Amino acid sequence: MTQEVRGVVARTKDAPVETTTVIIPDPGPGEAVVRVQACGVCHTDLHYKLGGISDDFPFLLGHEAAGIVESVGEGVTDVKPGDFVVLNWRAVCGQCRACKRGRPWYCFDTHNAAQPMTLADGTPLSPALGIGAFADKTLVAAGQCTKVDPKAAPSTAGLLGCGVMAGIGAAINTGSVGRGDSVAVIGCGGVGTAAVAGARLAGAARIIAVDLDPRKLDSAAALGATHTVDAREQDPVEAVRELTGGFGADVVIEAVGRPETYKQAFYARDLAGTLVLVGVPTPEMTLELPLLDVFGRGGALKSSWYGDCLPSRDFPMLIDLYLQGRLDLDAFVSETIPLDGIEDAFAKMHRGDVLRSVVVL
Ligand SMILES: NC(=O)c1ccc[n+]([C@@H]2O[C@H](COP(=O)([O-])OP(=O)(O)OC[C@H]3O[C@@H](n4cnc5c(N)ncnc54)[C@H](O)[C@@H]3O)[C@@H](O)[C@H]2O)c1
Ligand SMILES: [Zn+2]
Ligand SMILES: [Zn+2]
Repeated sequence: MTQEVRGVVARTKDAPVETTTVIIPDPGPGEAVVRVQACGVCHTDLHYKLGGISDDFPFLLGHEAAGIVESVGEGVTDVKPGDFVVLNWRAVCGQCRACKRGRPWYCFDTHNAAQPMTLADGTPLSPALGIGAFADKTLVAAGQCTKVDPKAAPSTAGLLGCGVMAGIGAAINTGSVGRGDSVAVIGCGGVGTAAVAGARLAGAARIIAVDLDPRKLDSAAALGATHTVDAREQDPVEAVRELTGGFGADVVIEAVGRPETYKQAFYARDLAGTLVLVGVPTPEMTLELPLLDVFGRGGALKSSWYGDCLPSRDFPMLIDLYLQGRLDLDAFVSETIPLDGIEDAFAKMHRGDVLRSVVVL
């Protein structure tokens, strides 16, 4: 059996996305169908649409979602119909070399649904990050469904499914920000601002937000930045050094995904400091750095996929902190939009008007 729902599809990188019929198969073994209630618009959706992630068009976009499990396939025991879940793109396998070494947040063989969702003519769709949640319903691997407290609103909870988790995790998991640390975040969109919030949760003493857009600096300040740097007016490296006694920050998080901001992050670090790249570069980008500086400055150069999160550990914990009033996830929801508002939302993201536009279904 299958069912027809509406979904937002990118057919080529030149055409606007379109809302069209998507065919969802009934869940097979280990799969679940989820009725999507909300899905945030992430920069990675735009990367997909522009062909920056892969050429596997057509894409079913959307991957930052919360919803209700509608049905589950054979052998699924962790979730059942009616459960409120945040969708994740790290359903760990338990079998790969990372999982077996007790580091499942690096899992190298994460699960997605085995069956394809398709267009009405049978063309298989590539769901963004194995999720595809700009749709009334989506088919995922059951392990992609993480149960959280249903007291959280779907529009807020869903943001943990990607950008907000990536940012918070870049600070608390990958960067291991600790009490008293100085932290700088370059690029304060949804991801960077979440890194600011994560640094605050971890007890950082000084949190420096860097962006080109004063509106982003305001939202970063509201979520915990103690200092802001407008990169159009000040050199970010000099500014961060000035704000850290001339030395640089203990942890610098790059949340743009460009070589020039990576270099700034590299040099805005204190000696033996940590750089975390959470921004996603595109295939043509390259980086040149004096190898002697890489050696001489010491420390750690890390990348953060999904904030090195373990969804089953991190999503419920962050939702609990949110419900206790210790993490203002609502501040990330700039607006709620209908399913056919994605192109507008991309334009707003491009202009920097929003932290997150969230599709509410
Ligand atoms: N690593 C992951 O797991 C993961 C997950 C989600 C998103 N991402 C990536 O994180 C990045 C940010 O995503 P987002 O949703 O926050 O995007 P966004 O467009 O909302 O934010 C980007 C921010 O960077 C700022 N910026 C651009 N150029 C700058 C510069 N030269 N100096 C300082 N600031 C600059 C922009 O003004 C904007 O505020 C993207 O590359 C996205 O693909 C990574
Ligand atoms: Zn694994
Ligand atoms: Zn994303």
